[in-house]
Amino acid sequence: MTQTEDRTLLSTEDTPLVPIEKVVALSKRRGFVYPNSEIYGGVSGIYDFGPLGVELRNNIRRFWWWSMVQLNDNVLGIEGNIITHPRVWEASGHVENFVDRLVDCKNCKRRWRVDHLPAENLEQNKCPACGGELTEPRVFNLMMETYIGVVEGERMKTYLRGEACQNIYLDYDNVLKSSRIQIPFGICQIGKAFRNEVTPGNFLFRQREFEQWDLQFFVHPSEMQKWFDYWKEFRFEWYKGIINHTDRLRFRAHGPDELAHYAKQAFDIEYQSIIGWQEWEGIHWRQDWDLSRHSQYSGQDLSYTDPETKERYIPWIVETSGGVDRTFLNLLLDSYEEAPPSGKDKEGRTVLHLHPWLAPIKVAVLPLQKNKEELVTTAKDIHNRLKRLMVAQYDDVANIGRRYRRQDEIGTPYCVTIDFQTLEDQTVTVRERDGMTQIRLTIDELPGYLVEKVTWK
Ligand code: GAP
Repeated sequence: MTQTEDRTLLSTEDTPLVPIEKVVALSKRRGFVYPNSEIYGGVSGIYDFGPLGVELRNNIRRFWWWSMVQLNDNVLGIEGNIITHPRVWEASGHVENFVDRLVDCKNCKRRWRVDHLPAENLEQNKCPACGGELTEPRVFNLMMETYIGVVEGERMKTYLRGEACQNIYLDYDNVLKSSRIQIPFGICQIGKAFRNEVTPGNFLFRQREFEQWDLQFFVHPSEMQKWFDYWKEFRFEWYKGIINHTDRLRFRAHGPDELAHYAKQAFDIEYQSIIGWQEWEGIHWRQDWDLSRHSQYSGQDLSYTDPETKERYIPWIVETSGGVDRTFLNLLLDSYEEAPPSGKDKEGRTVLHLHPWLAPIKVAVLPLQKNKEELVTTAKDIHNRLKRLMVAQYDDVANIGRRYRRQDEIGTPYCVTIDFQTLEDQTVTVRERDGMTQIRLTIDELPGYLVEKVTWK
């Protein structure tokens, strides 16, 4: 898993942190993300993904799956359900512990999470917005409730899962028995999670419905440190490989007062954007908390017997837990550039410098003129060939410069132009997004060239 060698990365000196409003506006304008139920006024913290958004999301998910499940012989994948038996959430500690402490400003009525208040405001009991007096903290549970069954009185209250990883503990024993894998091994899953976040915000950063990716890696206790360190580095390098601003990525160790109820040690992989250094993924030392608790609450023995030594123990767990949506947002923030006019580019351009592996559209096919039948026919033939291999878009509206800019703005790494020379010698121009360099290739060379550039390896 490496960066494509010829990729030019944005430099932090040249590209300041991008205001979140810019990516919100681009997302709506170009069809990446829309507010959910917008015609009814929307719902805070809930979004829908448009035609380009769904392609980007699928690429992000597939790349994660490929590098975590497909490339690691000791990792398998599952897909568990959003709704589980309610006891799961008692065993996991979420019913009791998955809470936010909140205060309200008596003057401006704004609501704040106690753990997000600046120290000074906390000490002086003062609202960060207006300086008004704050109420005593109140506790709110973040789990979203739902009911199974239709007959009133017989309906069972349960929850939409608050973290996707619980399915992995529930299916751990089935995976072990059905796949003949042995410890150390991991189980991966990508899936939706739901939290009644009291302060959703910053676009996709904190939502109420979002998607998580988890690896739960099961180990012998004596090997916990080794595997914790291994996955911690692996995940850091993974993120580094898909962004431009690698200096905006760091680890942060959790202090004892912020560890989740199950974690004995934890690190966040953080990314720096306009909203500060924020968690992108958590690496958690979950020890035997999960399997012990589910053994205890379900009455099922979830211990493991080593086939060679016959030692019996509850496996310890290294968790790497990140978010599809946060990856989506960080990639937009990381790759967005408003480039000033330079050289032949007289107007300046907005560019998403997305990694070609993840870009929603891989190639745009552009006939130089739309009223020249031979150009259009050749371009459509090329488009038909390419779209079987990758997401390819045909565009013949407006002048070629405008079309390049339209593709730059959505991160399309390559544009192929069919011009009059094409009709003479069967060559096309391939224009690359980041450096705006152009080369000529024959139509027959084109598919192989593009596949090499846009598929991960
Ligand atoms: N199983 C561990 C767990 O859920 P977490 O730190 O609460 O840990 C893991 O969540 C990841 O899920 C975060 O690093 C973040 O990427 C994503 N995430 C958490 N809450 C989110 C929210 N409200 N909106 C979007 N993504 C969220």
